[in-house]
Amino acid sequence: MKIGPYTLNNNLVLAPMAGVTDRPFRQLCKQLGAGMAVSEMVSSNSLLWGSEKTKRRANHEGETEPKSVQIMGADPQMMAEAARYNVDNGAQIIDINMGCPAKKVCNVAAGSALLQNEALVKEILEAVVAAVTVPVTLKIRTGWDTANRNGITIARIAQESGIQALAVHGRTRACGYSGEAEYDTIAAIKQAITIPVIANGDITSPEKAKRVLDKTGVDGLMIGRAAQGRPWIFREVDHFLRTGEKLPEPGINEIRDILMGHLHNLYQFYGERTGVLMARKHISWYSKGQRDGATFRQAVNRAETMEEQIKMTGEFFEHLHQELQQAA
Ligand SMILES: Cc1cc2nc3c(=O)[nH]c(=O)nc-3n(C[C@H](O)[C@H](O)[C@H](O)COP(=O)(O)O)c2cc1C
Repeated sequence: MKIGPYTLNNNLVLAPMAGVTDRPFRQLCKQLGAGMAVSEMVSSNSLLWGSEKTKRRANHEGETEPKSVQIMGADPQMMAEAARYNVDNGAQIIDINMGCPAKKVCNVAAGSALLQNEALVKEILEAVVAAVTVPVTLKIRTGWDTANRNGITIARIAQESGIQALAVHGRTRACGYSGEAEYDTIAAIKQAITIPVIANGDITSPEKAKRVLDKTGVDGLMIGRAAQGRPWIFREVDHFLRTGEKLPEPGINEIRDILMGHLHNLYQFYGERTGVLMARKHISWYSKGQRDGATFRQAVNRAETMEEQIKMTGEFFEHLHQELQQAA
């Protein structure tokens, strides 16, 4: 898949997830087979740019190209400024969020709430495209609610405004995260425009990825929640799409090594205090489904230092390893 001058290694994209897709996680997913990873969104409110959180979100040191940064807001000129700010800080692609249903986002009439106002969508897209020389991409849902699935109209507006790729989460804003993603609407959007379309929603396995690709005819796939605690899903999907064969699941030692590397990168990126807090949710995700995982999570969530967290995680994996050896 090609976005502007960037040819991606494959057509798999890590979905932007606020509080999850920080630089350590994006880099890990890229190492494990994601062709692109979209960073967490940066508010278009410039008053927030000096904050530690926004500065960290705009930090792309050492990140593999292309570096895509998501922005969010409802004011065309503020969005244009936000795009310029992020390009000045290293963004190589600007992604606009019109797909997030979070209450916080919808209350300020940004995110997927914008889909209701097609004229404003056009104004925002044109202002951002005109503000920067890098490619601009857009992420949407299929519409406002099931009676107002205007995804095709928005997709056409996007193409006419100079958007260079469109990611579609197969749910309306009103659907939240419930029900199965509707891939029919994504297929219709793909038919309606010529820029690359990326399908998103409930892609949880290599087989499902293939089914969505076949059903929608899209150019790329975007994976969010299924990568939490399973960043290797990208190499699994990539391998399956290329060869039709499934890779074996990673062994317990490989999972331990991936998680340990991830923890060290989190500590380095955030410092000890925030790093330990951020690591908790990742440790929980990695240990989900593992034997005695619930007991481990209860205990490790009380660890307050890097040393404690690393020690307890190491011991948990050692215990899993020994159990597997005994069972063999
Ligand atoms: C914790 C979390 C945070 C999210 N934050 C964002 C965000 O900042 N911007 C955005 O466009 N979508 C956001 N999303 C939506 C995802 O990008 C994606 O569209 C959605 O999770 C569906 O894909 P999935 O079924 O593969 O998870 C978020 C989703 C989750 C679970």
